[in-house]
Amino acid sequence: MKEEILKATDLTREYRIGNTMERIVDDVSLSVAKGEFVVISGKSGSGKTTLLSLLSGLERPTEGRVFIGGRDITDLSEDDLGVIRNRSTGFVFQSFHLIPSLSALENIMFPADLKGDRDGRAKGEKLLRKVDLWERRSHFPDQLSGGEKQRVAICRALINEPDIIFADEPTGNLDSENSKIVIDLLTELYREQTTSLVMATHSKEIAAMADRILYLHDGRLQREQDGGA
Ligand SMILES: Nc1ncnc2c1ncn2[C@@H]1O[C@H](COP(=O)(O)OP(=O)(O)OP(=O)(O)O)[C@@H](O)[C@H]1O
Ligand SMILES: [Mg+2]
Repeated sequence: MKEEILKATDLTREYRIGNTMERIVDDVSLSVAKGEFVVISGKSGSGKTTLLSLLSGLERPTEGRVFIGGRDITDLSEDDLGVIRNRSTGFVFQSFHLIPSLSALENIMFPADLKGDRDGRAKGEKLLRKVDLWERRSHFPDQLSGGEKQRVAICRALINEPDIIFADEPTGNLDSENSKIVIDLLTELYREQTTSLVMATHSKEIAAMADRILYLHDGRLQREQDGGA
């Protein structure tokens, strides 16, 4: 069996809504191998974003455990979690989440700066050229188009060569042309770095490119299917 990069066991997340506790993620167990591309599919409100937040350590589960690269991250302190998130994972959001006061290049370099990587600028510049944004390197996020912002966000997610990239509807705010550019780049770059990719998406086209598709329904993993890859 291939090396396992991500594992979740019996993950549950409850939120208090009014007087009741609602179970948004319900007893989910899964495993992702090194270099694997897994799509999480399911209708709006099924818990995809919540599950990605648990898997990436952005949120803590009510029950269950998450392992990244064999390390149990469930009970880590915020500081230790921050280090794992920065070094071992990258996150691409639907709404980009770039830092408005930093240029395109500075946004990309930010995770490398955080860990004190002196080669951050050189790596950032290389990635910028790769996604065809060299001319935009000094632009601030509000001076970039949606597709350009997402390309910057992808570079930022990749700069520390993480074990795994999480992407939550990365094309949700883009037109079809930019969606294609962004997906082509994400899939090309994650393969080059032999990173794993876990993506929530409604897109059947994207799901067809995955190794595996997981279906969520009311927070439960319904079934699993091979993708088209
Ligand atoms: N912080 C929170 N507090 C209370 N309820 C929440 C919270 N976060 C999410 N929920 C609820 O959990 C459910 C699942 O939300 P989630 O965002 O995970 O769904 P989703 O599958 O990503 O949907 P979409 O496809 O629309 O992005 C929703 O009903 C939502 O209202
Ligand atoms: Mg969502």
